[in-house]
Amino acid sequence: MAKHLDGRLLATRYEASLRASIAQHLATAGYPPGLAVVRIGEDPASGVYVRKKAQACGRVGIRSRITHHPATASQQEVLESIRQLNADPSCDGILVQLPIPAHLDARQLLLAVDPAKDVDGLHPLNLGRLMRGEPGLRSCTPAGIMALLAQGCIALEGIRALVIGRSILVGQPMGIMLQQANATVTMAHSRTRDLAHQCRQAELLVVAAGKPGLVRADWVRPGVVVVDVGIHRVPPRQQGERATLCGDVYFAAVEPLASHITPVPGGVGPMTVAMLLWNTVQAWQQRCGGVVRTVLVPLLPH
Ligand code: GUN
Repeated sequence: MAKHLDGRLLATRYEASLRASIAQHLATAGYPPGLAVVRIGEDPASGVYVRKKAQACGRVGIRSRITHHPATASQQEVLESIRQLNADPSCDGILVQLPIPAHLDARQLLLAVDPAKDVDGLHPLNLGRLMRGEPGLRSCTPAGIMALLAQGCIALEGIRALVIGRSILVGQPMGIMLQQANATVTMAHSRTRDLAHQCRQAELLVVAAGKPGLVRADWVRPGVVVVDVGIHRVPPRQQGERATLCGDVYFAAVEPLASHITPVPGGVGPMTVAMLLWNTVQAWQQRCGGVVRTVLVPLLPH
């Protein structure tokens, strides 16, 4: 039986630490940290994520607001609201919730966010800082995964890691962070030949493929560490049952073989939110004269 890398528990510890940090700096700053989420359209999953982010902000003392544009909003309208948030002194962090409607240019919108307020770490300047190993705001999901791995005492030095998925949101920054921790990283994607073979070589698997149950028992080596970034709604099989959630890994089959695994839900998801809060507090402290700390220290005693 694998040890579960418990994102819910670690996120709770992060929240407690951030709440204390906000209370400590509030008098000096003169205002609480502020996060603005820009949502465009009616993607139902985005609605759930945005609500969770706002609730988490409330728990730690971050003032959050949601700017919700209709699916028909123009590029100019969204750009204008980002510019207003850039100029708003009470707003420390800005996040453009993805995905956005196809007629909009995500690249240009992310570029418009003030890099000092880019709490998603998706501005080219922050991605460049990540690549160079310089301090800066880091992408939330991979940063959350690094914290979970540290918390689970997973030694990364020299291990063979496979990242499945090469998005800017998760796969690409994840690969860089793991390399910076001295793992030997292979990036797999939709065009990778014999993905099962690649998986079997890996001592650490980070799966962000967006395909429910992709990784099965005969794809993994015993003792593997499995991080599942996927989250999919499974409709109820019969009336009266509730929908459930599953990841990109066929959990029931892989869990008995793994040494460590992240559950879905309760693994990576809560850590993404915790890192968003962390980044917002970092941005707030920096705007009040502090420095950004990118080192993510596990907060639980082992
Ligand atoms: N959509 C799903 N996850 C995320 C995230 O971490 N950030 C943004 N901006 N959009 C998302």
